[in-house]
Amino acid sequence: MNKNYYITTPIYYPSAKPHMGHAYSSIIADFFARFKKMDDFNVHFLTGTDEHGLKIQRSAEKQNKDPKSFCDEISKIFEDLTNTLNLSNTDFIRTTEDRHKASVQNLWKVLEDNKQIYLSKYSGWYSVSDEAFYNEDEVEEKGGIKIAKISGSVVEWVEEESFFFKLSNWEKPLLKFYEDNPKFILPESRKNEVVSFVKSGLKDLSVSRKTFSWGIKVPTEKNHVVYVWLDALTNYLSSLKYPDQDNELYNRFWPATLHIIGKDILRFHAIYWPAFLLAANIQPPKRVYGHGWILSGDEKMSKSKGNILDPLEIINIYGLDPLRYYLLKEVSFGNDGNISEEKLENCINSDLANNYGNLCQRVFSFTEKNCSSSIPGHQYNEDDLNILNSMTNSEKIRTFIDNQDINQYMNFIVDRLFASNKYFNDQEPWKKKDDNLRLSSIVYTSLELIRKITILLHPVMPQTTIKVLNTFNVQEQNIQFSSIENNEFLTKGNTINKLDILFKKIEKNND
Ligand code: MSP
Repeated sequence: MNKNYYITTPIYYPSAKPHMGHAYSSIIADFFARFKKMDDFNVHFLTGTDEHGLKIQRSAEKQNKDPKSFCDEISKIFEDLTNTLNLSNTDFIRTTEDRHKASVQNLWKVLEDNKQIYLSKYSGWYSVSDEAFYNEDEVEEKGGIKIAKISGSVVEWVEEESFFFKLSNWEKPLLKFYEDNPKFILPESRKNEVVSFVKSGLKDLSVSRKTFSWGIKVPTEKNHVVYVWLDALTNYLSSLKYPDQDNELYNRFWPATLHIIGKDILRFHAIYWPAFLLAANIQPPKRVYGHGWILSGDEKMSKSKGNILDPLEIINIYGLDPLRYYLLKEVSFGNDGNISEEKLENCINSDLANNYGNLCQRVFSFTEKNCSSSIPGHQYNEDDLNILNSMTNSEKIRTFIDNQDINQYMNFIVDRLFASNKYFNDQEPWKKKDDNLRLSSIVYTSLELIRKITILLHPVMPQTTIKVLNTFNVQEQNIQFSSIENNEFLTKGNTINKLDILFKKIEKNND
């Protein structure tokens, strides 16, 4: 069985500081990476910054900075964010690094050798904000300004000499690829959009620019720079030391298992990227998942609306783990979702303080008082076994993960939390003080339930769950998903370390 897992986030434009949408893509990818790690996979988890192109050049010019020092500053903020978000990434790539330049120039040469690139002239619409070319029918006029219908961003007319990639040749092979790999694009609804776009006909793609210089030079024509999307997408190969295709990283991790991206950049990942790779005789990635947008209240975040949510502010007030939990549980994965302080507070109170926190607190303080803070003995009855066995179905849970069904995964956890609290209530261990074995068995079962749920919650809330698992002397490097199969993991007589309150309930002011 292939136990290698390569997951990526989009590489972010360091044109402004990170917002909640960036944090969302990264947290999602980290969730999958952490799950796979605790399921004994070798995980390569890549994130980074996308630093070339006109958008960055113009942002730098606005601040009177040269593009490289401008990128150095903002890329550092994105890199710091990986720590703030507690990401388990194994690489952080910047497209201005030499390893990446070599990789892009090599891919270009392969495409040229394979007769996939020719020189011609481009005339058409271009959006600097999206770094994308648009056809006439994809553009409309609003208030005298031409904008791209799909994104609403301003487009400008471009006419210049340019290299073209023969994308039109790849229409049929792409359709066949989607057919042979029905889960290449998820969610299903987005796949349909892509397939109909490809069926409607693909035009050759302009893949170089000549009127500005901030980019990777075309190796055979130094006054052209490589189109920023061909440059950026190649980052997924650069991290594996491409063009060397005979090294351990490349052999283990290519083709990538999963590219996590936002729905707005699906066309680049699901059409251009596999076409470039097929044209270079490289296998396309296994899956591209286009998630929805995080809205601020009910609106798209934008500078002009002044409603940009800063993940750092939210983390300062509420902590990281509650934010991670909220984004994974409350947003229907694949669809747009929103975040507001009120919703986040409700989620913290109901799910974290009242459900998970409460279960831990009750069981641990009962154990402290009645079992001298050590793991008691047990003899299971049917009730104990029933609830414990409802959490041994690891194959079902692996399937949720492999289908990126985050919501089913989270619902399973919440459901088992309710069931575990109910079990503890119904068994009334406080009334069993004259039946020591029964009392001990209820405590042991409850501790096992907490252990299993905490393992499932680990990829969601790494910091909090490590605290809970440490009470059982399980250290981070020893967390193993497969141990949820075991109903008797805890050893009688072992000490249970003290656990502080996990989540404080947020008092609401109702006036
Ligand atoms: N640089 C390109 C990606 C290149 S990948 C080879 C890019 N960068 S970006 O910084 O503009 O966006 C990065 C990601 O953040 C995209 O997946 C985008 O969809 C996501 N988000 C930006 N705003 C978002 C929300 N409001 N909500 C959720 N994600 C959104 O595109």
